[in-house]
Formats: sequence, structure tokens, C-alpha cells
Amino acid sequence: MDPEQAYQVRSALAWAAVIAAAHFLLGTSTHAVHGLHILLGGLFIVPVLKAAVALELRGGLIAAAVVSVLYLAHILWSWRNSPMANQDQYAMIGVYFVVGLSAGQLVRSANFRKWQRDEVIRRSRQSEMVQGLTGLLSALAVRDADTLAHSRRVASVAVKIGVRTGLDADATVRLRLAALVHDIGKTRLSDDILFKNGALTEEQTARMREHVEIAVGMLRPIAGTEDIARIVSMHHECPDGSGYPKGLAGDSIAPEARVLRVADVFAALTEPRPYHTPLAVDDALAHMGGLAGTKVDAAAFAALNSLVHDSGGRSLFEDPETAPAAGLGARA
Ligand SMILES: [Fe+2]
Repeated sequence: MDPEQAYQVRSALAWAAVIAAAHFLLGTSTHAVHGLHILLGGLFIVPVLKAAVALELRGGLIAAAVVSVLYLAHILWSWRNSPMANQDQYAMIGVYFVVGLSAGQLVRSANFRKWQRDEVIRRSRQSEMVQGLTGLLSALAVRDADTLAHSRRVASVAVKIGVRTGLDADATVRLRLAALVHDIGKTRLSDDILFKNGALTEEQTARMREHVEIAVGMLRPIAGTEDIARIVSMHHECPDGSGYPKGLAGDSIAPEARVLRVADVFAALTEPRPYHTPLAVDDALAHMGGLAGTKVDAAAFAALNSLVHDSGGRSLFEDPETAPAAGLGARA
């Protein structure tokens, strides 16, 4: 029950309690008071409507039953010597149920139409976002196909690690999209840095590190990518605070970003690079084991380790076309 529904239910209960109390306290001595009882009997429709707004048909019918019991108890109590003296009053019970049923159905169909409208808007926003991300990936394919292939491998492993660490479905989708575009900022780096065949100078390293903030800037105009940009912005942060660009540490790094970093490092170590030959999977894991808890998240690394162990020698990179191959790979 969301806060609005809870408010409507509380309000329905308050209305029912106040009306019932007034019924029992008013007495039945004069004709004028009898008129007030008729008004109060009519007002029992208010809690029925409120309950229908909160819980649709179920709320309308339950509230109709509750106010019917209260109303019946009032008639039997207040006219206990002649309960059939005002038989017409019993008709109100039928009215409560008709109102509860009708209001419940109306609210349900209004809620369904609203859900349909929201769904259309959500899907159009999502397709807008996917188009924007696809555009970025197309630009990456043209500028640096190795980085695109690396990103696909990272996405493939990251999703598996994410699922194993218990990320929910939404977080896993965010993780996958963030992994695909995590190095998109490299498209804006100059060729002498991006394609350098050898170690970068200090100045070039500083420029290379800017790819994180460049990527965030490239995602900013694409509506709906705020969460993805946040993950991308943290993909080089380390648990011990030694990463970049902000030097975030521990839990201040988003869980998806912690997983992305482990997948990124694992993919980078097992790919051919301008500055190293690819490591075998076991060697990469042994190397990363020494970094767990400081440079890479320990829980995400443990998940990667168990995945490799369970894979029985099969590659974690699901698409054979994107598995590490000959040729120079992307720079981490
Ligand atoms: Fe990166």
C-alpha cells in the first residue's frame, strides 16, 4: 500500500468512526434528530468512496460491509423496541454496496487507463534512451572498435557477477547499459593517447583519466541515463579510495560500479593490450586476488571467482565474436 492509499484508508476509517459515534450519541427523540440520522446514514457513503479510491473494488466492498454492520447495529440499538418501525432505513445497506461496487469498478478502470498512459510514456522514454545509447555505441564502433568489443565483454561478465552478487533486475539492466558505455569518453581522446602502442606519459595518463568525466558529459543530454551516468562516473573508483576521479571509497561507490570495475579489470587483464600480453584466466584471478578489498571490491571479486570456478573452463564472455582475440585491444 503506497502512502496515498494508506492516507485514504485512514481517512475512511476516521469518517466511519465519527459517523458511527454521532449515530449512537444523537438519540432518536425528535423528528429533527431523525433527519440528522438520515443525513449521517447518507454520509457513510464517504468512507466507502475513500476505500474504493484506495483499494478499488476490494476496498469499496469491504468498506460497504463495514459501514453496513455499523449502520445496522445503530438501527437495532437506537430503535431496539421497534426495529421495524423505519423499514425504509434498511435500504441504505443496499445503497452502500451499490456505491462500493460502482466506485470500485470506476476507480479500477481509471487506474488501468492511467497505467496504460504511464506505460506508453515509459516505453517511449526508454526507446529514446536506447536510441541515444545506440548512437554513442555507433560512434565508438567507428572511432575505436577494440574499446567497443572490450565494453561488450565487460557487459557480459558484469551481468553475470551482478546476478551472483544479488543485484535486482533493474540494477542489472543499469549495470549492463553502464558497462556498454563505460568507456565512451575515449572517443573524445586524441589518437596519440587512444592508440599509443606503449606506456602513457604522466600527462597522457591524466588526459586518459578524463574519459570518465567526458563519458558522463556525453550521457547527460540523453534523458533517463542519470543512473547509468552515475555508475559510469564511478567505474575507476577503488574500495580504498585510491581510484579516480573523486577518490570515493567503500560503500560510497555504487554496488553496480563495484561490479563493473571487477568485470572491467578482469576483461582488461585477459585481453591483448598495447602494453601487456593477455593473462590466462587463472593468472588474472590470482593477480586480482591481491587487489581484492583495496583496488577492486572483495564481494564482486569473490563472485567472479566462483563464476569462473563454476564455468568448468567455459569462457564468461558469452559472445564468441567478442572473446579476446589476436590484435591490439583497448586500453583500460
Ligand atoms: Fe574506463
